[in-house]
Amino acid sequence: MSLRDTSSSPTASRASARFTEPQHAVFRRLNDSIGFDWRLAPYDIAQSRAHASMLARQGIVSSEDRDALHQALEQVERELSDGSFLFAQDDEDIHMALERRVTEIAGPVGGKLHTGRSRNDQVATDMAMYVREHAQRALEGSASLARTLLDQARGHLDWPMPGYTHLQRAQPIYLAHHLLAYLWMLVRDRDRFADVLGAVSRLPLGSGALAGVNFDTDRGFVAAELGFAGVAENSIDAVSNRDFVLDYLAAAATCATHLSRLGAEIVLWSSQEFGFLEVSDAWASGSSLMPQKKNPDVAELLRAKAPRIAGHLVALHGVMHGLPLTYNKDMQEDKEHLFDAADTLELCLEAADGMLASVTFNRERLASGASDEFLSATDIADMLVRRGVPFREAHTIVGGVVRSAIEQGTLLSELTPQELAEHSPLLDEEFYALLKPTESLEQKRSEGGTSSLRVREQLEQAEAALASSR
Ligand code: ARG
Repeated sequence: MSLRDTSSSPTASRASARFTEPQHAVFRRLNDSIGFDWRLAPYDIAQSRAHASMLARQGIVSSEDRDALHQALEQVERELSDGSFLFAQDDEDIHMALERRVTEIAGPVGGKLHTGRSRNDQVATDMAMYVREHAQRALEGSASLARTLLDQARGHLDWPMPGYTHLQRAQPIYLAHHLLAYLWMLVRDRDRFADVLGAVSRLPLGSGALAGVNFDTDRGFVAAELGFAGVAENSIDAVSNRDFVLDYLAAAATCATHLSRLGAEIVLWSSQEFGFLEVSDAWASGSSLMPQKKNPDVAELLRAKAPRIAGHLVALHGVMHGLPLTYNKDMQEDKEHLFDAADTLELCLEAADGMLASVTFNRERLASGASDEFLSATDIADMLVRRGVPFREAHTIVGGVVRSAIEQGTLLSELTPQELAEHSPLLDEEFYALLKPTESLEQKRSEGGTSSLRVREQLEQAEAALASSR
């Protein structure tokens, strides 16, 4: 952002004739939002263009005035994109900065741009447009990551691995099944961002400061020009409303939490202790000291960024709660939370996608964890259930078998038929057959379960979910 010293220019004085003293420098530092709300410039220009068109259509300004305003806005847009736009010391926020420059270019007619408009409905409109664009980006980013998960799942359909609860080996699962679990999180994220698009479908502009405006405006025209489905019904609500920012932040916080869980697993799985996968070199770093190290920094950062976004959500709830209607300066605090959340989330989604696509899984390590015989304990209990033993009793019997093996330091398959018979006469040859992971895997035929049949079915469901847009 370029600043120029305008202390000697007429624009250096305050916008309002109401005051005699200049603003205190410290007040300015606290109050000015130009340092961050310059990012709203494209939306502010688009809405000003539509607003000027509407003013002319309604006969509120002449068509010559409209053309002059449009030309000035076009020049401002050019200056912003080629970097020649100079922000002035006195520009309190992006709205004042753009109006100042339009007036410098167009002359006094620039002063007509703010007819029938307040910064209160203006900023709410810019924010709605920003949220709309970034909810759309997050929607696409989540869908793209879900597609990468789908591809990885498709490539690892019949790869057994140990499934965990409490990070203790629990039951064998297929790797594709585990990867698809993340896919569904991302599909829900995509749908949450689609809901955010619904929350920004009503145009705040035209509400004025709070009460409406004294001109015969056409809000529907402006709404259509700016891609809103309709106009906000209540001017008081329209300038007070930041629900859509909270909705975006809530969706972003949940999505970031999903990425953090994915990151956490990749950190674990890429450790030598697990050795389940390796991230490609392009997505890993080395150590400045230890030459052998390969660190999963992306996954670690995905893990760490989530609370930052959740923090923004909580902070904005703190800003908004208890605020009397309508606009209050507190609401200026919405921006940095939103901008940082969107920057962080978009970067994380892109990095997660790139890293995950680059991962190679280690079939042997995964299979060796899955072949841990203790993971079949539930299947053995269920075999007893099928032979008429109540489940709770079967659980106790198999718990005893497992304890015997642990105490003797043997594998379950090393227990003799006689030893098994001591626990239950119903434990026969099938006990040994069930110790193979494929037995356990392929018995999980319930809907959503891990058997190959069900995982293949789920793959189709996932494809259909990704093909359906919301
Ligand atoms: N910079 C302000 C914000 O971000 C713009 C709205 C100012 N409105 C006002 N009445 N002072 O909220």
